Amino acid sequence: MRIETSRHTERFGAVRLHDVQRVLLLDSGGEDSSDAPEIKGVEKIGEERIRAIEKKMAVVIPTKDEKLKIFEGVISGVPHDCLLIVISNSQRGDINRFKMERDALAQFCYFAHRPALIIHQRDPLLTEALRRANYSDLLDADGLIKEGKCEGLIIGFLFAAMTGKEYIGFVDADNYFPGAVLEYIRAYAAGFSLSESPYAMVRILWKYKPKISEDELYFKKWGRVSEIDNKYFNILLSARTGFETDIIKTANAGEHAITMKLAEIMPLASGYTVEPQQLIFLFEQFGGIMPTSYQDVMTEGVDVFQIETKNPHLHEQKGEEHLKDMLAGGLGTIYHSSLCEPKLREIILEELKNHADFVPGEEPPKPLIHTPLCKIAFGKFKEFMLPHLSVYKIDGTQEKSTYLSTPGAVTFINGRDEKKKRSKG
Ligand code: GDD
Ligand code: MG
Repeated sequence: MRIETSRHTERFGAVRLHDVQRVLLLDSGGEDSSDAPEIKGVEKIGEERIRAIEKKMAVVIPTKDEKLKIFEGVISGVPHDCLLIVISNSQRGDINRFKMERDALAQFCYFAHRPALIIHQRDPLLTEALRRANYSDLLDADGLIKEGKCEGLIIGFLFAAMTGKEYIGFVDADNYFPGAVLEYIRAYAAGFSLSESPYAMVRILWKYKPKISEDELYFKKWGRVSEIDNKYFNILLSARTGFETDIIKTANAGEHAITMKLAEIMPLASGYTVEPQQLIFLFEQFGGIMPTSYQDVMTEGVDVFQIETKNPHLHEQKGEEHLKDMLAGGLGTIYHSSLCEPKLREIILEELKNHADFVPGEEPPKPLIHTPLCKIAFGKFKEFMLPHLSVYKIDGTQEKSTYLSTPGAVTFINGRDEKKKRSKG
């Protein structure tokens, strides 16, 4: 892969915010594929470097009732050496979409000769493991893991940590283009290969997010919400440093990856605040303005890469209603941060009145922030979960007769085959 060198980096305390680096070439061959001197301003990241990182990376795909054809495309885009972890919250009733996903994944793994993990978010075994690890803030009133993408990502973290991975990347399951998925993950690897710190994060900026406009595709660059969120993140930084900036371009990067060392200390927030709250966490903890609980990270610094892909991003259109919630959630992360000064709070409220129908006196929701991994009893989670790992594992060697079952004949409960459970007793 070739990407632009980071030519402009802004420092906010120990956080190194790299300006957008464009992908120039998806595949640049091996490290020794050319003797020509490298061009200044361009980083060549050879296949060996990319694959070395992919081998240490878990790719987590959160999914909830996505179309199976699209899900199948997404999994096929994940590079061979990454550990594929699917965290599903799909329905398991008469129409068992979770089972369909599991079957499709097993078939893929069989032909691709690779393993994968697939876990249902509402699995009672998992709940028990979380209870033992004192991770009760992830549980709802019924004692099951809360619904939501963020909660799915946290489960992904736990399994990536349990399997000893060093990097974790996220990819939504509703992406129409398997090639885009492949590029995101290669860009994650490229970013990590350029990092000077074990605490790093790569956030994807799409070249285009096409929309259908009067029967034609229009290759839109910026989403409405992300444009506004980026602007307010930049205002926050400008107000704090006294120098105007436009460095933040990925406030809402659903597609992102984190080194496990950073993921362990980074709390995730529910709903549409996951990605903006990650930035707030970094600015609060390592911006040098507020005291930090993690001195080692202050010393090493945190690298935040923003990489622009070649592929456009086309995902399922699920209506526009949630855009206002997304905007309120994103701006709420800034509004409720102790870095936000009263003047900025006022203009955020004005923005929400204009674009999210806020009434006078209404405030954006406070992000619901979950405990980070380093603060739970992870050892207890692992101790309970490891002996059960085979329940969630697809090892890629199962014969067709065992990975595919007659539709409707078996239902999966807790990721297990109910027929097997019955025959056991
Ligand atoms: N495990 C799990 N559990 N996955 C879920 C759940 C859940 O409860 N709810 C949704 N998902 C999955 C979806 O199936 C999809 O793969 C992914 O999470 C994102 O959900 P979407 O509903 O497609 O979100 P979006 O397209 O509105 O928003 C995306 O882009 C935003 C920025 O533009 C997400 O990536 C957001 O996180 C991001 O902020
Ligand atoms: Mg989507």
